[in-house]
Amino acid sequence: MKRRILFVCLGNICRSPAAEAIFLHKLEQLKIIDEFYVDSAGTGGWHVGSLADSRMIDAASNRGIDIKSKARKISFDDFNNFDLILTMDNTNLKNVKTLSKELDTTFKAEIKPLLEYAIHSDLIEVPDPYYGGDKGFDKVLDLLEDAIEGLIKHIRFN
Ligand code: 4NP
Repeated sequence: MKRRILFVCLGNICRSPAAEAIFLHKLEQLKIIDEFYVDSAGTGGWHVGSLADSRMIDAASNRGIDIKSKARKISFDDFNNFDLILTMDNTNLKNVKTLSKELDTTFKAEIKPLLEYAIHSDLIEVPDPYYGGDKGFDKVLDLLEDAIEGLIKHIRFN
């Protein structure tokens, strides 16, 4: 059975598609991509169907990471279709948990902040880069790369 992991941010055009692409890139390097089903989603629906923000696509591309996903909004089905839902900031975490409470039944997914897995950072939130300058995108990628390294170590040793 594949492990199913969903990354969630607000718009699903900056942080979570980058997290998804970095995770897929590392899984590919490790030749364990077939063991996973990976996706990303937003708590908001304004950008549904759009490619990621071009600033994030460019910043990731400079690191050899290809962001291909199109934005979608998180759905109730996601709580049973995924084993792990990883949120980018406290607002996403709160909104995902609130949404989960609208389900009538218990559900499968564990919901956690991605930065719980960070190795070199004490931050608990991935800052939203959308209204900032280009440097914000590189900072986000640094945080995501670190946390995803920690996530993969955790998965492989647990
Ligand atoms: P994301 O960034 O949550 O990392 O995708 C944002 C993208 C769009 C908006 C906010 C945050 N927006 O307000 O449209």
